[in-house]
Amino acid sequence: MTDEFERIFGAAPTGVWAAPGRVNLIGEHTDYNDGFVLPIALPHSVRVTAAPRTDGRLRLYSAQGDDRITDLPVAGLAPGAVASWAGYPAGVVWALREAGYQVGGADLYFDSDVPSGAGLSSSAALECATATAYRDLYELDLAPAELAVLSQRAENRFVGVPCGVMDQMASACCAEGAALFLDTRDLTQRQVPFRPGEQGIDLLVIDTRVKHDLGDGAYAALRAGCERAAELLGLAALRDLPVEGLSRALAALPAELGPLVRHVVTENGRVARAVELLDKGEFAALGPILTEGHASLRDDFEVSCPETDLAVATAVSAGALGARMTGGGFGGSVIALVPQQLTGTVEQAISAAFQAAGYAEPATFTATAAAGAHRVG
Ligand code: GLA
Repeated sequence: MTDEFERIFGAAPTGVWAAPGRVNLIGEHTDYNDGFVLPIALPHSVRVTAAPRTDGRLRLYSAQGDDRITDLPVAGLAPGAVASWAGYPAGVVWALREAGYQVGGADLYFDSDVPSGAGLSSSAALECATATAYRDLYELDLAPAELAVLSQRAENRFVGVPCGVMDQMASACCAEGAALFLDTRDLTQRQVPFRPGEQGIDLLVIDTRVKHDLGDGAYAALRAGCERAAELLGLAALRDLPVEGLSRALAALPAELGPLVRHVVTENGRVARAVELLDKGEFAALGPILTEGHASLRDDFEVSCPETDLAVATAVSAGALGARMTGGGFGGSVIALVPQQLTGTVEQAISAAFQAAGYAEPATFTATAAAGAHRVG
């Protein structure tokens, strides 16, 4: 990548940084309700080779792009001004400056092996890689959580996607061999050991190849529905509704909001149960919680799709301990916990089921919990 950087930008880089994509084990659509999440970072990451510039220009190049440099004046960055993938890194530089950090320009060369549009948080990885490189290039005193929040602001305000904070927190704060148990209200976090491989269990990721797009309005509508429900219940956020109060809340709410609330409340409960099991090292027992979470996303939150439903059902009937869609939904990826001796069987069963249904061939890989954003060279 250093050679490529020199070829594109004509000078030597200062260093290389990486930020991972993620899968969320459980706790979906809870983050913008001030709730709980439990993601792991993937071994797949966005790598950025970078050098600072003194002329206030931000020059961006992606190995996955169209072989063109995007050249922007840092002082002129404004929300909505940069279309395409370049809006994510440009948004981070804008967010840093908005937050009062005196940062200037840079040359940034990106290379990613996080599948994009697969619900594996390639955008958060792009943002967090940029923020981590800038932290070091400009010697900023930025803790990982702060870096994540600035990255989320870039996505919310600069790119215009109303996401929660989970993906950026996962990319910035995860530790190797652990899931990040995060309270999204105050960002309290705990690393919970997650090495199912030691008990002969694989975490299989199935990318259904159905591209999901958080910017398409459905996510914003769900978020607005949850916020409206909290308001009607007189709560700061749905996180404040305990499971004991659920039936009374459902009776009080308009019919269309009830299922959203039921999902969020029960999903927060599933995170708590999952953490208890992981603390005891009971990875196999996590399976049914995943499958239950999928049913809730499919039936109450209605963010699954025929491909994710088929992948989950097929995985479970072929011997997975449990499975669910992961991420925002409307396509994207499914995770399954599978006894290692059955991983091949489950992969083949899903591939055959997709073929029979006339769907595109899914991509599968086994994931381990990797480290969050860091300097690599
Ligand atoms: C997307 C968003 C996250 C979160 C998930 C659903 O990944 O970026 O903030 O809301 O969807 O859990």
